Amino acid sequence: MTGDIHFNKQDFGDDFSWGVATAAYQIEGAVDEDGRGPCVWDKFANIKGKIKNGDNAHTACDFYHRYEADIELVRALGFKEFRFSISWSRILPQGFGEINEAGIAFYNRLIDKCLSLNIVPWITLYHWDLPQGLEDLGGWKNRNIMEWFESYATICAKAFGDRVKKWIVLNEPMAVVGLGYTTGLHAPGRKSIGNFLPVVHHLAMCQAIGGAAIRQNVADAYVGTAVSCSYVHAASAELKDIRAAKRADALMNRLFIEPALGMGYPIDAFGFLGNIKKYMHAGDAERLRFDFDFIGIQNYFSVVVKHSYFAPVVWLKEVPAKLRNVPVTAMGWEISGDGMYDILKQFSAYKGIKEIIVSENGAAFQDHVEANEIHDTERKSFYQEYLTAILKAKKDGINVRGYLAWTLMDNFEWAEGYAARFGLVYLDFQSQKRIIKDSGKWFASFLKT
Ligand code: BGC
Repeated sequence: MTGDIHFNKQDFGDDFSWGVATAAYQIEGAVDEDGRGPCVWDKFANIKGKIKNGDNAHTACDFYHRYEADIELVRALGFKEFRFSISWSRILPQGFGEINEAGIAFYNRLIDKCLSLNIVPWITLYHWDLPQGLEDLGGWKNRNIMEWFESYATICAKAFGDRVKKWIVLNEPMAVVGLGYTTGLHAPGRKSIGNFLPVVHHLAMCQAIGGAAIRQNVADAYVGTAVSCSYVHAASAELKDIRAAKRADALMNRLFIEPALGMGYPIDAFGFLGNIKKYMHAGDAERLRFDFDFIGIQNYFSVVVKHSYFAPVVWLKEVPAKLRNVPVTAMGWEISGDGMYDILKQFSAYKGIKEIIVSENGAAFQDHVEANEIHDTERKSFYQEYLTAILKAKKDGINVRGYLAWTLMDNFEWAEGYAARFGLVYLDFQSQKRIIKDSGKWFASFLKT
């Protein structure tokens, strides 16, 4: 089955981690069970027109009840590692204050199930599902989030750190600020450029604060944080397009990693960021820094950017992949293994990054069930193309140490609802039946070699 590619598992080395990634809100369901409090996505999904087809995540993949069988599926696919996120409002229904022991108990059961199958658990502390109680107090715009987050991180580290060593503090903070607080396309649906800088700063502070809380409370922790990143090309050699590409790069790729590395915000490429000083208190510049063991790179596509007079503040726009005559996924994202290589190379140039994990990568395509099978050839080729690029990067000396595919099974794809399928396992959301797609079967045979 692996005859059509030019690499095998051994080429990545014995110490390379292979896993699949998920996120609590996208798979768990059971939003009202066992004392869980509401999160921003519960409220957002109830607003008409926010989620495609009026979908919601009340049941999602019902992972809350089916986690045991789903972890068996992780094993069936040949993966040795499983990334999941903790639902903050299961642990602290209000966001702070009293701990919900039933929430802790659920993640204990999940972790123990992973360990019983020799699957290494990875915890993401924050994958976008802020407790609604905290949002009512201003959410990520309120500086008190630093205390709320520190206490939440400490509780999780103490509860699970005896068995879980691999930790990711934040998942893609740029999506939280960009989609959640600036364009309003994601929960909590706040739409104002005035939110941008304070939210960026509080997220960047929490990135470091969460890292420190884990390191302090978990013996032998391997602590990282995960950023979205896309290699940026300028649409032309004109100076205005080149500058637009630099601004886009500052926003999409540099904004959260550079403060963590002690380099400050990338004001050189995007002057507007200089105003962030207004939200910085004495000592913040140092507190932004944290010595992560690894950085999680989440790459799906690369982008082409040009100057635009119609986009105030950023003065740029993306040239959509569809107009560029390049292959795209069902999300309209350009398929480009070269983009993965380029972004790995870009991140590896930072001296402060010790190790890189590709903590998410995958693709949505239209899947069709034929006689209980899903022949998702495009997804299989997508994975092969990106893995080829990662292997090339590794051979070129880039310190990439692991790969977590996005994602185990089709799930609640945020504002796309159930319309976009990213899984290696197909989900029939009516019956909750799971079917391993051809791409999943390919992984199983590849990981066995
Ligand atoms: C997010 C996932 C999401 C995936 C595909 C990533 O940005 O972390 O939650 O499902 O992209 O859109």
